[in-house]
Amino acid sequence: MLRLQTPLPDRYTTADPDALRHMIRAAKTELGSRLLILGHHYQRDEVMEWADMRGDSFKLARFAADSDATDIVFCGVHFMAESADILTGDHQRVILPDLNAGCSMADMADLDQVEEAWDDIASVTDIERVVPITYMNSSAAIKAFVGEHGGAVCTSSNARAVLEWAFGRGDKVLFFPDQHLGRNTGIAMGYAESEMQVWNPHREFGDLDEAAVKEATFLLWRGWCSVHQRFTPDHVAAFRAEHPDGTVIVHPECSHEVVSVADHVGSTERILDWTAAAPAGSVIGVGTEIHMVQRLAADHPDKTVVSLDPLVCPCSTMFRIDAPHLAWCLESLLAGHAVNQITVDPQTSENARIALQRMLDIT
Ligand code: 13P
Ligand code: SF4
Repeated sequence: MLRLQTPLPDRYTTADPDALRHMIRAAKTELGSRLLILGHHYQRDEVMEWADMRGDSFKLARFAADSDATDIVFCGVHFMAESADILTGDHQRVILPDLNAGCSMADMADLDQVEEAWDDIASVTDIERVVPITYMNSSAAIKAFVGEHGGAVCTSSNARAVLEWAFGRGDKVLFFPDQHLGRNTGIAMGYAESEMQVWNPHREFGDLDEAAVKEATFLLWRGWCSVHQRFTPDHVAAFRAEHPDGTVIVHPECSHEVVSVADHVGSTERILDWTAAAPAGSVIGVGTEIHMVQRLAADHPDKTVVSLDPLVCPCSTMFRIDAPHLAWCLESLLAGHAVNQITVDPQTSENARIALQRMLDIT
């Protein structure tokens, strides 16, 4: 989805790193406790150094929900800021420093496609027994659909708990938009791949036939993360050949072929915890976004932390948030106007909150 960010004033684009640091520090100090800066683990160092709280998408949603700050500057991507707006009160504002910080995976499922899929599935099976589960990486409109239809949101840190909850209420799950998180979690729970079908939203009836839909336990939306799909089993094999005693840790948005040869699979927060807990001298190959891997390496000089893919690219949308945008947002707040406020309309917000709250209650 195209969201246009207005160009920044020259004051920010021409400032050197020290000047930007000075602007951010001064504005942050002046804003005091009314401000909360949240930073996702994929953010650049120049942004992360200002985060009051760091975390994976679940942890950050909780921080937002529990915060008393009136201005929450979310250094992450659009769906995270939307979720924060849904979980906070009317007196709180959520700001995304760059409106172009979306998520290509979240954009792989839109409401029309999901409604069409739901109607198609309902035409061949008892829809009351189908539970829709959406990954946090989805629009507020899709979370609202899920809330209205008896489902819940999940993140990479709680997908298993949410799926167990879902199978307590129905016998089939429609999981979107990330097929990999759905497949990896289902297999970890003991389901066979033969119990899963991929729903292709660009083809009639998901490119499946009636029997396949009826028999499937998991209908997995054909979505993926462009960053995590780059990791391959060959990367893991090359790392293991070079470091036979090394440990491989990957994010569950990687394909099952990669996950099945990893030592640990978990959310960004868990990747961080495992790396921190590894003994000095450990060699760790990580399959996730490069800024996080580089920060892990810098924070643990007693260990060797490398990306599994030597050519891995950053998440281009997370990367959009930088010091100039952060300085601009903070100084604008100080001047009395909130730029880039993310607001979800009340009806969507109400239904999406149901799906998010179910996740928070389950976990
Ligand atoms: P986490 O919830 O693990 O931080 O994942 C968010 C994400 O977008 C990973 O690509
Ligand atoms: Fe979206 Fe992938 Fe970026 Fe995560 S890493 S925000 S899933 S594009």
